[in-house]
Amino acid sequence: MWISEVKDLKEGSEVAFKGIVLKRKGKFRYRVFDRSGEIWVDSDDDLMEGKVYRFEGVFKGGVVFVRSATELLEYDLRDFLPFAENPQKNERRFWEVVDGISDPRIRGFIKFVFDPLWGAFKKAVAAKKYHHAYIGGLLEHTANVAHIVKSVSVIYREENVREDLAVAGALLHDIGKIWELKIFPKLEYHEKYGKWGHIFIGAALVREKGREFGLPEDVLVDLVHIILAHHGEYSRGSPVTPRIPEATLVHLADNMDAQMNHVLKGGEKEKG
Ligand SMILES: [Fe+2]
Ligand SMILES: [Fe+2]
Repeated sequence: MWISEVKDLKEGSEVAFKGIVLKRKGKFRYRVFDRSGEIWVDSDDDLMEGKVYRFEGVFKGGVVFVRSATELLEYDLRDFLPFAENPQKNERRFWEVVDGISDPRIRGFIKFVFDPLWGAFKKAVAAKKYHHAYIGGLLEHTANVAHIVKSVSVIYREENVREDLAVAGALLHDIGKIWELKIFPKLEYHEKYGKWGHIFIGAALVREKGREFGLPEDVLVDLVHIILAHHGEYSRGSPVTPRIPEATLVHLADNMDAQMNHVLKGGEKEKG
């Protein structure tokens, strides 16, 4: 029997598909999803949340009545979650902008923060729905914002806009999303750290790491400010509004890239 995707299941027919169990409802009913959508299944087996199964059964009345559910220990996560199109290119673009930071203390600090987090950072998503809502999306978004900030700050060089500070702020602005959002089994707000939000998490992390690294206090204060102010307004979750030009620049570049991605890829409205 061929394997179909959830969205292609035909009412009244025999079906076979692979899906991840999202949650259980009552004794026999489960919510299951793949990359294409979600569906209810009824199964006598004791299925585990977060595990992958191959289901066979009949699709009737919008529910799959499962005859057999076999747990799959080997599977490709790409069948279930969306991924960034070009992760290697995004990684290269990220480190290219880091290498372009001329102040060795700021460049060293960025490496100090990102090196131990790299595995988690490159898998993270930038939002649940609105923009870069795919694995590797946070890396793509961050590289874009940093490149926009770097290009634009050249225009304002004579006004003493601090390019290194603005670029560092751009690289760090959403780092808290590593914790705020989880990717498995679904792109979702983390049950614990979602309550803190990425602005607080990022600001607290950068303050702690900055002190550990020995970043000068005036640089650290402005860097943390850029993170706190990057949503631009109180109503969008920033506890302070931008008070230095570098913070305004990161805020506008962040908005620009989020909206560009939204338009280019399509999606529902959600602030990120
Ligand atoms: Fe943000
Ligand atoms: Fe952002």
